[in-house]
Amino acid sequence: MRRFFVAGNWKMNKTIAEARDLMNAMLPLLAGIDNVDIAITPVYLAVPAMVEQCRSTGVKVGAQNLFWEASGAYTGEVAAAMVAEVCDFVIVGHSERRKYFGETDETVNRRLKAALEVGLEVIVCIGETLEENEAGLTAAVVTRQLTEGLAGITEAQAAAVTIAYEPVWAIGTGRAATPEDANRVHRDVIRPLLVAQFGEARAEQMRIQYGGSVTAENAHELFSMSDIDGALVGGASLKADSFAGIVKAASLVAIADRRAS
Ligand code: PGA
Repeated sequence: MRRFFVAGNWKMNKTIAEARDLMNAMLPLLAGIDNVDIAITPVYLAVPAMVEQCRSTGVKVGAQNLFWEASGAYTGEVAAAMVAEVCDFVIVGHSERRKYFGETDETVNRRLKAALEVGLEVIVCIGETLEENEAGLTAAVVTRQLTEGLAGITEAQAAAVTIAYEPVWAIGTGRAATPEDANRVHRDVIRPLLVAQFGEARAEQMRIQYGGSVTAENAHELFSMSDIDGALVGGASLKADSFAGIVKAASLVAIADRRAS
C-alpha cells in the first residue's frame, strides 16, 4: 500500500505572523488524516514557529535549502546541522534555485550529501524546462539531473530521499502536466534509474512526488497514477482549504489502494 507524501513549499511567502495564521487555518482541516505524510516548508525565519505550532500534529516542517559547508565565512547561508537542529527535512535543487541562484546538478549533490550526513530527510527536485520539453529532451534532462544529483548516494541513504519531478513549465503556470505524461516520466525514467542505483526493493519504497500546478481539483487524478506518490505543492499550499483538499485526495486514493490490494 502506498503512503503518499504531500509537501507544501511556501517559497518566499508568509511572515511569521502570516505563517501562524495560515497554519491555524490548516491544522483543523488536516486533523485526523493519518495515512498521508504531510509537510510544509516556510522561509527559514518562520521554521521554528511552525515547528512549535505543528508539534504533535503529524505535520512535518522543513527548510527550502541549505549550504553544504559546515560553518565559516559564508554570509547569508545556513548549514545542514543548523537546519537539522530545528527541523526534519530540506528541499534541494528546486528549479527556482537553479534558475535564479546558480544551482547546478553538482551543487545539488553537495547539498544532498551534507543534508543526509546530519540525518535530514531530503526532497530532491528535478524537471525539464519548456524548451527542453519541446525539443524532446525530457528523459535526457531528468536522467542527467538524477544521475548527477544522486551521485555517490548509497542504498541505505536513499531511504531518506524523496524525488520531486517538477517540469519547470508547469510550476506556477496553472498548466499541470497531464497525469499520464507525469506518470510516464516517473515510471519509465525516474523509477528505473532508482532501481539501477539502489536496487528494486529500495526504489519501490522511494516516493516520487509530482510538482507543478497541483490543485485540489487535479490531485486525485494525479495520485491515481501508478508511480505518482505524492506532490510538492507551491501556490495551492498557501491556502488552507486547497492544501487540505490535496492531502484529502491523497488520503482517499490511499484508502482505495488498500481496498484494491
Ligand atoms: P506550484 O509550484 O504548485 O505553484 O506550481 C510547485 C513548486 O514549485 O514546488
